[in-house]
Amino acid sequence: MNHSNNKRETFSSGLAVFFATLGSAVGLGNIWKFPYMVGENGGGAFVLIYFICVLLVGIPVAVSEFYIGRSTRKNAVGAFDVLKAKPFWKSIGYMGVLSALFIMFFYSNVAGWVFSYVFKAIKGDFLSLASLSMEEAAVNVSSQFDIAVGGSVSPFVWQVIAVAIVSIIIIAGVKKGIERITKTLLPLLFILIIICCIRALTLEGAAQGLNFLFRPDFSKLSASAVLSALGLAFFKLSLGMGTMITYGSYFTEKDNLFATSARVALSDSLVSLLAGTAIFPVVFTFGMEPGAGPGLLFKTIPLVFSKIPFGNLLLVAFFILTSIAATTAMLSLVEVPVAFFIEEKNMSRNKAVLLTSGMILLIGLLTVHPKSVFGNVVIAGKGFFDLFDYLSSNIMLPIGGLLISIFVGYIANKNDLSNELSNHGTLDNKGMTKFFINVLRYLTPALLVIVFLNSIGIIKF
Ligand code: PHE
Repeated sequence: MNHSNNKRETFSSGLAVFFATLGSAVGLGNIWKFPYMVGENGGGAFVLIYFICVLLVGIPVAVSEFYIGRSTRKNAVGAFDVLKAKPFWKSIGYMGVLSALFIMFFYSNVAGWVFSYVFKAIKGDFLSLASLSMEEAAVNVSSQFDIAVGGSVSPFVWQVIAVAIVSIIIIAGVKKGIERITKTLLPLLFILIIICCIRALTLEGAAQGLNFLFRPDFSKLSASAVLSALGLAFFKLSLGMGTMITYGSYFTEKDNLFATSARVALSDSLVSLLAGTAIFPVVFTFGMEPGAGPGLLFKTIPLVFSKIPFGNLLLVAFFILTSIAATTAMLSLVEVPVAFFIEEKNMSRNKAVLLTSGMILLIGLLTVHPKSVFGNVVIAGKGFFDLFDYLSSNIMLPIGGLLISIFVGYIANKNDLSNELSNHGTLDNKGMTKFFINVLRYLTPALLVIVFLNSIGIIKF
């Protein structure tokens, strides 16, 4: 069966598909969230569990989402109509729209912090670090972070700027907006992170940092950390909420869905590990706390560049490129509700974008840093920031992933599936497809259920 609707835009080539998908995957999840979660959850053991989740859950769910998207050429809700699935399955799409919004509520806030750091670095706020002692420099960057995110007005202004930039790019359309940006700038970010790593590895605490990141110590791993590693895998690869269904719907007929998933997962993981390699040596050299939380990136990177030639220039470049990575990830997040409003609610593109960004700003305001305006409100022991983060990454995305794997593993028409995965017979991958279906039917859902039950204490391992 070929459900394609030829009028819909597609990416222009396989390489564009790879970069656009990577543009969604690589973002604050890699550079900001991965390092601080590794820090909070004890290091190497968390990293190892994270990789197991990517391999056994992430890649199979990615292939499934690409299949649903490309074979229907629809958004994450409409796709299930085209596949003639029972209305229940559309809940994947509805929940995805909600997850995208939940993530954007806090993500746009952190993106705002990154944007404000570009400005701070250009203003020269970190130039004085060069003349300070290590302890003084560490204290200085920490307090600069607290001041930057602790204000009641400026973090929100930066959040508005972040959302406005994303809205403008999204209004320009899929190809022009997303492709152009990701293809040129992702490789540059990659190079800059490698420069950070090289510098970090010359620091005194390099060995300790690498040990922390790569040597698993399972005594530090809790059940909730395993759920967080799973949630992080979903979050980082943009899975479980229909982003990759929507992106898959723009793929060309020639893209190899297995290869694209594996390449994206691998490159995304590499960027995360490099970010960790740049950050943990600093943590140990400057006597900081690995579990410093969401401020970790902002409290370490200025120190990486503080005492080297052209350090401030490199710092500016780092935050500009990180802003861009955050922006391309946000484009893919916002695209989920936008595509839904356009295709399911018959809205114009402009109206859909305005409605989505309006909601993000209205509710996103609640997530402004814990010390700010609404920060004192606590629900279920969490501030709004943590609440939206926890609900989306640790609950909604894994449930979305579970439903997607059950749908593709058990409900979808197997001929249609093999036909799509082999690009209508042009790829010889029958063995691979069979293996994939088995993993998707048994391993992926079982793992998801076990991790859930373990995290709520029903089973223990
Ligand atoms: N993967 C993105 C990141 O790591 C965030 C994201 C999550 C984007 C879910 C789209 C969907 O920053």
